[in-house]
Amino acid sequence: MNNYEDERITTAKMNEGEEMTEFSLRPHRIDEYIGQKAAVDNLKVYIEAAKIRKEPLDHVLFYGPPGLGKTTLAGIIANELGVDLRITSGPAIERAGDLAAILTNLNDNDVLFIDEIHRLRRSVEEVLYSAMEDYALDIIIGKGPSARSIRLDLAKFTLIGATTRAGSLSAPLRDRFGVLSKFELYTEDELSTIIKRSADILGAEIEDDALRELAKCSRGTPRVANRLLKRVRDFSQVKGTGVITKEIARMALNAMGIDEEGLENLDRDILKIIIDRFNGGPVGIDTIAASIGEERVTIEDAYEPYLIQAGLLHRTQKGRMVSEKAYRHLGIAYNREEHAEQLSINA
Ligand code: ADE
Repeated sequence: MNNYEDERITTAKMNEGEEMTEFSLRPHRIDEYIGQKAAVDNLKVYIEAAKIRKEPLDHVLFYGPPGLGKTTLAGIIANELGVDLRITSGPAIERAGDLAAILTNLNDNDVLFIDEIHRLRRSVEEVLYSAMEDYALDIIIGKGPSARSIRLDLAKFTLIGATTRAGSLSAPLRDRFGVLSKFELYTEDELSTIIKRSADILGAEIEDDALRELAKCSRGTPRVANRLLKRVRDFSQVKGTGVITKEIARMALNAMGIDEEGLENLDRDILKIIIDRFNGGPVGIDTIAASIGEERVTIEDAYEPYLIQAGLLHRTQKGRMVSEKAYRHLGIAYNREEHAEQLSINA
């Protein structure tokens, strides 16, 4: 399987060595957090209520595409509650004992953040059930007929789980979250505000139309926006006057292979393959995955959400279909009559 996703400048996944800059650009208070209004407005109420009652916040599940600020918001929640935050991830917790060690080190009202919680092993996940529900751990001591179970009390903590695939979570785990918050891709206005804020923190001067150009090409994802900003700033310092203008931004984006819609080669390849080999679709996701040599989940999590939001791809009952806009974007002729037939077959 190819691993194109890790090499893309527009990947929403965190790259190696990127934690420090991401951290420095992260907002710390809830009023500084831009976007995700529905989720944030509700969370403000729940945080306030938990503080009034001096109780832990209910367990929270964040779900949605990567790079949208789930870890950032978890950090803000811990800050607003005035408690410590412990960050880990599903794949990092190998054994039930590892999770027990983390849980027994928490203090009352602390926040435990588990990223990629859908990737927890079943044996580890089962430990979470009583921890979340009763703030207790059931530990089996000994083996065979003399084995017995003892119950260990835990601090009253809040679990914040994050996942790109809520559907992959087991029902018993999902049901133990009191708050479910869906993260949406950001609008261009929201991304412009985020990029402006980051540019100010980095001390970079950026013109308004350059801001909009970057926002348009950031795939609805703050992590991508901040990464592009840093690369474009490099271009402005080496090839320009240090001010990020629209021309410099476009020059940098072209150099990185990013077009006016924020697409890279592989995005265009996905659209072209559906057009060339499957006459625009509908075609099943597994067939697309096999055609371009990527994993199905990578396409579903990393490529598709943005292609759909940009109106370039549609998800239908019979599979994926490329839109007329995508044909136009790629400069390929679109035969309305032929596609009207396909659309009606598909309806
Ligand atoms: N940086 C990353 N995500 C952000 C957000 N939602 N608001 C402000 N800054 C951010």
